[in-house]
Formats: sequence, C-alpha cells, structure tokens
Amino acid sequence: MTSSTPTSVRRKAHTCPVLKQEDILGSPISEPVDTNRKQTIQNSEITNHWASKAEHSNKMSHKYTIIKALDKGSFGEVSLATLNPNGASAGTGTASVTTCTATGLRRNSSESIFVIKKIDKEKANDTLLTNEIEAGSRLKESSHIPKFVESYTDTKYCYMVFEYFQGMNLYSFLESRNFKPLREHQVKRIMRQLVDALIYSHQNKICHRDLKLENILYNHKKRRANLIDFGLCAINSISCADICNNWCGSPDYVCPEILIQQPYSGCLSDVWSLGIILYVLLFGQMPFNFKERYYALQHGDGHPELEFPNDKDVPHRVSEQVKDLMKKMLTIDPRQRISMEEIPHTKWMKKSMNILSLFGLKSHTAIHKDEHPHTACNKGAAKEEHGDSPAQKEEGDQPPSQL
Ligand SMILES: Nc1ncnc2c1ncn2[C@@H]1O[C@H](COP(=O)(O)OP(=O)(O)O)[C@@H](O)[C@H]1O
Ligand SMILES: [Mg+2]
Repeated sequence: MTSSTPTSVRRKAHTCPVLKQEDILGSPISEPVDTNRKQTIQNSEITNHWASKAEHSNKMSHKYTIIKALDKGSFGEVSLATLNPNGASAGTGTASVTTCTATGLRRNSSESIFVIKKIDKEKANDTLLTNEIEAGSRLKESSHIPKFVESYTDTKYCYMVFEYFQGMNLYSFLESRNFKPLREHQVKRIMRQLVDALIYSHQNKICHRDLKLENILYNHKKRRANLIDFGLCAINSISCADICNNWCGSPDYVCPEILIQQPYSGCLSDVWSLGIILYVLLFGQMPFNFKERYYALQHGDGHPELEFPNDKDVPHRVSEQVKDLMKKMLTIDPRQRISMEEIPHTKWMKKSMNILSLFGLKSHTAIHKDEHPHTACNKGAAKEEHGDSPAQKEEGDQPPSQL
C-alpha cells in the first residue's frame, strides 16, 4: 500500500467534473477520465417521465422573470428569477429574502426569488433529468436542501425551478479565501447540516452520489449549508446494503470501490465523498491525488493510505476526534466504513444534531440517550462510546445561537 499525496483543491483544466459510467465500464481504460463525453446513468426503477408532467416553458416566462445568470452548470446555466406579480402562485417554494444586495434586489425585500436551472436536453440524458426532479419532489422536508418547486420544458431545454439559497458554493467560498482551511468549529457546523440532509435523503431512499464542494451552498454569515444537484443520485436505494452498478461521481471525490468497478453501496459512497469534503475544509487540500490512486488500484498496489498534514503545516489545530472520524469515513473497505447514521454518534459530532431543531431547522437525525448507534449499514466500524469527553468542549462546541 502506498501513502497518499495530498493535492491541490483547485480545479484542473484537464479533468472533467464527472466520472462517467462508460469511462469505467469496459476495458481497457487508457485515461481515468475523458473530458467531453455525455454522462450516462441508468435507473430502471424510475418509470415516470418528468416531461409528461412538465408544462411548456412559455408558461414559465409568464410566471417568472429571469434577473441574472448565477452560475454555469454542467449542462446549461443557473439563473436567478423573480415571481411575476401577475404570475400564478408558485406553491410551496416561495422564498422570502431579507438581504440580497449581491443580486441587486432591495434589502429586506419580500419579493419571492427562485433559481431556474436550465438544462440542455441534448447534453444531459433523460435519466439525469428524471432523477433530479424525482429527488426534488421527494426531498421537501429538509432545511438543508433547497426545495424543488416545478419544472418546464420545450424542445431544447428542461427548466427546474428551485428555492433560492443565498450564498455561494463551497468551492467558490474556499477559492475566495485562497483555499485557506476553515476553523474546526465552522467545519463542524457545516458537517452537521450536511449529515442531517444526507440521513434524510437516505431515509427517503435517495443516495446523492455526486457530493463535492461545488454541490454544497454555503452562507457564511448565517453559517448555513445546503445540499444541491441530485442529478446523479440513485433512487430507491433502501439501505447501505443496496447495491448500485452505475459508476459515476467526480474523480477527486469518488470512492475506491467505484474506481475498481465493483458494485457498491450508494450510501457508503456518499460517506466517502463527504469524508473528502471534511478533509478539504479542514486542511485546504485534497487527501488523495486522483491519478495516483487510480493507477495504484489498476496496478494492484492498493489504495494509498490516508495521511494528515503536520500540525505545523496547517493554520489551525485539528483535533484527534475529527481525525478519527475522517479515518472512519475514508476507510477503503466499504464494509468497514462508518455509515452515515453512525456519524452523529461519533465523539466529534455527538450532541450536535438535535440542536438544529432549536432553530426551526428540521433535524432528521434521531439521537436518544440509550440509542445504540449500531445500524444494519455498518457492521465493522468501531463504535463510539457515549459520554462527553473534555476535548468535546473545545472550540467545536459553540453555543447553539452560532449554529
Ligand atoms: N438553489 C440554489 N440557490 C442558489 N444557487 C444555486 C442553487 N442551485 C444551484 N445554484 C448555483 O448554480 C451552480 C450549479 O448548480 P448545480 O445544480 O450544481 O448544476 P450542475 O448540475 O450543472 O452542476 C451551483 O454551484 C450554485 O453556484
Ligand atoms: Mg453541480
């Protein structure tokens, strides 16, 4: 087994954001990733076609006014839109903004603003659209997932309307601070919310499968994180035992079992990717070099081992408890990897999840005093003991008001 080479978080021009099924299926694979091929995923269990439910985009232009482009997505663009005064009610997704200076909207505006994700149907296949819409329709109860409102279509594009989340994606946020690591208590707040969103998503039989910095929105002032972009999700993955055969994800975040083309658990692949995110937020660098680990696995050398930077090389001290959690999340053998449900019970995370509910944020993580953290998902991972340790009272445990 080789050791890991931490690598820059900066996007490399030559790597594509998504690892595609056809890049991995079949042999030989000369290059780990190919830049321009259309991504494909299949999910035979999804039979309803979004297009039959979606209204024509003409109706959308009566209802919404596009204000400005927010970001360029992989298959189109994401724009900010307001609900027209004469437009029909937008249903459950109305989002009131209090501050939106960056968008040009007035402060304390009560205007309803939305995000419209426009996807080129030629570039993205039907399953990707179906999955994102199906996930959006199921995952309406989390405070950490922007609500899906409705969809429209025309001959060229599909348009998905979502609740607007005021903030920026975590990649842009880190980039804006030159990839300087965040402080541990700040990372813990982000992780609490993401774990809560993912437990809720898994409970609803949806595995995300494309967790990465770009798919997490963050509001630095409010310390809120939201999970987006369920286009590559696996739907009807009932438990960690459920096996996926569609190899997809983003190279730097994808788990080893996908890289060696094994059938895998979607839930446990989410745990791995979230572990990568945790590492990047704490150290400002990727734990592994994609090409290195890909070639090591292909040549039977085994996946590189996880290593942490020396304390003197990072701006903030990182506790042993969070290092322990990262080791559990980035365990190479998925049967030994910690499950998502167990994460809130680890020393680093414990006592944190149900704080969300104090602030009107729905928590989907049940933590009871006598609850045994063992779940069917993970037989091998070491269990944390209950009870506070002095170390838990360090910087990570801020008063609830700072959540
Ligand atoms: N609900 C939202 N609120 C605010 N910004 C969003 C929202 N959804 C997407 N974005 C912005 O658009 C970008 C691309 O969105 P995403 O859904 O990830 O598209 P893609 O499938 O093309 O990757 C995000 O990184 C974010 O900057
Ligand atoms: Mg995305």
